[in-house]
This record gives sequence, C-alpha cells and structure tokens, in this order.
Amino acid sequence: MNKEKLRKKILNKRNNISNRFCIVNSNKIFNNFKINIFPSLKKGKIIIYNSFKNEVKTEKIIDFLLNKGFEIYNPCIIDKKIIPCKFFSHKKLSIGPYKIMEPVKKYKLKTMKNVIAVIVPGIVFDKNGNRIGFGKGYFDRFLCKINKNILKIALAYSFQVLKKIPYTKKDVKMDIIITEKEIIYVKKKKKNL
Ligand SMILES: Nc1ncnc2c1ncn2[C@@H]1O[C@H](COP(=O)(O)OP(=O)(O)OP(=O)(O)O)[C@@H](O)[C@H]1O
Ligand SMILES: [Mg+2]
Repeated sequence: MNKEKLRKKILNKRNNISNRFCIVNSNKIFNNFKINIFPSLKKGKIIIYNSFKNEVKTEKIIDFLLNKGFEIYNPCIIDKKIIPCKFFSHKKLSIGPYKIMEPVKKYKLKTMKNVIAVIVPGIVFDKNGNRIGFGKGYFDRFLCKINKNILKIALAYSFQVLKKIPYTKKDVKMDIIITEKEIIYVKKKKKNL
C-alpha cells in the first residue's frame, strides 16, 4: 500500500476508536514513558505536541515533566514552519492553525541547546522508526535540522505500528516509539538517554 492509502486507512481507524479506548491506552503509554524512558532522560527542555482529536493524549506527560522540573515547549505553526513555543499551562492554550492547541503567548524557543527530546505524533509507523504524519511535511522539515543527539520519540497506539511502511529520504526516522503494548527502540543508547 502507498503512503497516502496507509495514512487514510489508519487515520480512519483512529477516527473510529472510542474516547474510552483513547484514555485507557494513552494512560498506558504515559506509564510506559514514565517507567521506561523518563528515568534515563537528563534534565532539560522537551518539545511535545498537544494532542488533537484521537491522538495519544499528552496532558499527563506534560504535567508530569513540568512537575519534575523540565521546561516544556509545544510545536506552533508560525509562517508555515514549526516553531517551538513555551508551554505554561493547559489554560493558557488557544486553537492554532489546523485546530491544534498552541500557547497563547508565543515565547519562541531561541536555541535547540538543552533540548533533549522531541515527542511527536503521527498516523502510521513501522518497526524501523519510519513515520507517516498528516502529509504536510511540517515535522519532517523541523526534525531534519535538529542535532542527532536529540531524541525523537513518537507516541502511538499499537494499531498504528506496522511491520514495514514506505518512506522517502525526506522522512525523518524516530528513535523510539512508545505504544501501550511495547517500546520500540530503533537506535540504542544515545547521549541523552
Ligand atoms: N526536509 C524537507 N524539505 C522540503 N520538503 C520536504 C521536507 N520533508 C518533507 N518535505 C515535503 O513535504 C511533503 C509532505 O511530506 P510527507 O508526505 O512525508 O508528510 P508527513 O511526514 O506525513 O507529514 P508531517 O511531517 O507534517 O507529519 C512532501 O512533498 C515532502 O517532499
Ligand atoms: Mg514524512
């Protein structure tokens, strides 16, 4: 199946899961993150998406990380590019382009120094870390520029992870994919982990 068909098929599946399925499995994914990934992260800045519709929910991960003293940034679309802006609280978010929540005040991240991880959403993944998103290339363009030591972590329900999916040179691979059932380590032992 080509990228477009796979994107449609899995997105359709995700659009049809129940709210309960989303909550239960997002909680499991949060726990997997907390137990298996978090203990090996060094303190720093983390860029993490605000969940939209049936995407794996990120509120609890954000609150947990804030509580542990991490600085949180959310991807914002500014001039058709992803610019991470500082997250202060869930109450200080408003609807941005593509109906994704963004911090109202745009305190832009000035440098990627001290950024240890980027936690991204997606629609389809494979066991080799390949990712298919909404098809605009926003994350690809953002992730291809960042230092290789910054961990690229994806959150997904297990039905979103297939054995193999098509990809191009422009598709940036994930280092880790966390699902409710497993953690897929594409590359082992990087500097920040
Ligand atoms: N680094 C890049 N520079 C220029 N164009 C790019 C780059 N990365 C991706 N693109 C282009 O963006 C378009 C969408 O890419 P693709 O279908 O891979 O999106 P996606 O990975 O599903 O989306 P997203 O990254 O927003 O989640 C394609 O035409 C692709 O060639
Ligand atoms: Mg892509």
